Amino acid sequence: MHTGFNNKTFLLTGSSGFIGASLSKRLLLEFPEVTIIGIDSMNDYYDVRLKEYRLSGLQTIASEKNTGSFQFQKGNIADKATVTELFRKYQPDIVVNLAAQAGVRYSIANPDAYIESNLIGFYNILEACRHSYDDGKTGVQHLVYASSSSVYGSNKKVPYSVEDKVDNPVSLYAATKKSNELLAHAYSKLYNIPSTGLRFFTVYGPAGRPDMAYFGFADKLRAGKKIQIFNYGNCQRDFTYIDDIVEGILRVIQGPPKTEIGEDGLPSAPHAVYNIGNHQPVNLLEFVEILQQELIRAEVLPQDYNFEAHKELVPMQLGDVPITYADTEALRQEFGFQPNTPLREGLRRFAQWYREFYQI
Ligand SMILES: NC(=O)c1ccc[n+]([C@@H]2O[C@H](COP(=O)([O-])OP(=O)(O)OC[C@H]3O[C@@H](n4cnc5c(N)ncnc54)[C@H](O)[C@@H]3O)[C@@H](O)[C@H]2O)c1
Repeated sequence: MHTGFNNKTFLLTGSSGFIGASLSKRLLLEFPEVTIIGIDSMNDYYDVRLKEYRLSGLQTIASEKNTGSFQFQKGNIADKATVTELFRKYQPDIVVNLAAQAGVRYSIANPDAYIESNLIGFYNILEACRHSYDDGKTGVQHLVYASSSSVYGSNKKVPYSVEDKVDNPVSLYAATKKSNELLAHAYSKLYNIPSTGLRFFTVYGPAGRPDMAYFGFADKLRAGKKIQIFNYGNCQRDFTYIDDIVEGILRVIQGPPKTEIGEDGLPSAPHAVYNIGNHQPVNLLEFVEILQQELIRAEVLPQDYNFEAHKELVPMQLGDVPITYADTEALRQEFGFQPNTPLREGLRRFAQWYREFYQI
């Protein structure tokens, strides 16, 4: 499926983040002709050492022969001058916007961070894309940006389809992600910016995010603390392995949406939205069971670990939803791909990485 990127320049925001660094790594290793310009604020929402580790991994790969090139700038996309200057200097062909304040629960504690990165930051990216065509320049050929499964709120119908009405977000995070889709649609219609929003479903894997449940569970179990399983374990999540997310992004990048003439005789917005999820929701208790087995297998936990003594079933949290379940039919039809990494395999790779990273 991958045909190469013919010397294209990528601007990748959030390049030291979990998904951004994983995508950059794959691009560098498989597409030696690409130039990646990475920007990340390196904020301390979670352990900065993990962001530095991912960044130095990319810089090491890029210093080797026969890889793409990678240049990094520490900066905030909410700063308009920074974004404008990046676009002026590098004139990216492809923009992948992954920088955002992620996490549902933190949006209750620190709403400002969401408005800054997810709304002002994304608006700056859109404005820069718009002006990339000034003076007859080719400009941005595709803007791909991260949305989230959280836009589905407490959607009753499963699986979640991009055709479903998503006007009932249950967290500020979800509201900012839905706003991104609306803003991108408007900019794409007004200025003909080919753009695609991707609704990722609970992404996990090596060098993942320590603020997410699976990572936090591993930390707590290792420290001998109790883990809390919300909604008394009656939660289902469509856990999606990082390599599947990266594969999905790579395929989507190569197929920018086209303008079509609508029923009104006017061109439609070259804008599309897809789900990227494993389309196999797993009960949280089952997930935790497999995670525990894999942590034991990787020797992060001892063979005789008393799991029952470290497990606490608690009520639902504010902003959480009982199930996420992706309908990925559109992704399959348009791009011939659906995530397919089995949960045990993905958690095995996470547990092995975890052991190495923390030198257990
Ligand atoms: N991981 C998931 O399960 C998941 C699910 C749905 C959506 N998403 C979305 O995917 C994207 C990437 O997520 P991730 O899991 O890699 O998160 P992450 O937090 O690991 O990565 C985001 C990166 O963006 C950087 N950043 C934040 N605000 C910035 C700003 N204003 N300017 C520059 N850099 C900034 C952070 O320092 C971080 O390194 C985010 O938009 C997130 O909302 C992730």
